[in-house]
Amino acid sequence: MIGVFDSGIGGLTVVRSLMERLSGYDIVYFGDTARTPYGTKSAETVISYSLENIEFLLKNGAKIVVMACNTASSVASHRVAETFDIPIFEVVTPATKQAVNRSGNLAVGVIGTRATIKSGIYEKKIKALKPAAKVYSVACPLLVPLVEEGWLKKPETMMIIKKYLHPLRVRQIDTLILGCTHYPLLKDQIQRKIGKKVIIIDSSIAVAEKVKSFLDTHPEVDHLLGKKDEFRLFVSDITEQFEKTARITLKRKVFLEHIKL
Ligand code: DGL
Repeated sequence: MIGVFDSGIGGLTVVRSLMERLSGYDIVYFGDTARTPYGTKSAETVISYSLENIEFLLKNGAKIVVMACNTASSVASHRVAETFDIPIFEVVTPATKQAVNRSGNLAVGVIGTRATIKSGIYEKKIKALKPAAKVYSVACPLLVPLVEEGWLKKPETMMIIKKYLHPLRVRQIDTLILGCTHYPLLKDQIQRKIGKKVIIIDSSIAVAEKVKSFLDTHPEVDHLLGKKDEFRLFVSDITEQFEKTARITLKRKVFLEHIKL
């Protein structure tokens, strides 16, 4: 099984990207809906949640794990790598690489949760690759609850996106990183407000491409993974909207399994 976790629904954008590239691979997902959002919590708390989530995925058959959450990837990657002895993928590095490769003027915008932006990880990683790059970051704390609520197309959501993106519009960025796996569900809306010339980097696609290329070059890991198109979807709380958004995101029927960590 490929184990995938997020604080809630956002990581399903990573599952969708994985399913598109690794069709038929068994996937076990955990959405920590009882403790969402992670983006407003301390690094210490997100680290302990991440360790628990990975333990849970391992108990349920995961042989590799994708941290489908920028917040967890930003603050917990080191601790996770020290703790577990299996391949674990985070979303920040692949998104950073795509952004610097595709940006023409190296003026890059990053949007994410408060915790991700506060960690400064995108700026650090972008500058490590391209010291001359200019990075402009904006925390967008209201977008995760709006996505969890399924308010994807409401005029209020559009207004909030416009307000958050304003400081980036005046900076002439040519590339914008969606530094939260919830945001791909608002991709069209974000593209409309930032302008169609800006290249959007979707961290959910970037990490799925990374996982695929890893498995292509590591057959010894690939053969540990089941390929019966099994998909298990665990949540720590059943919320009204989750099933509907999950179904729309994955374009397949989903069955939620409720667990307590
Ligand atoms: N989807 C997550 C991320 O990529 C978590 C958002 C949150 O729980 O605040 O950051």
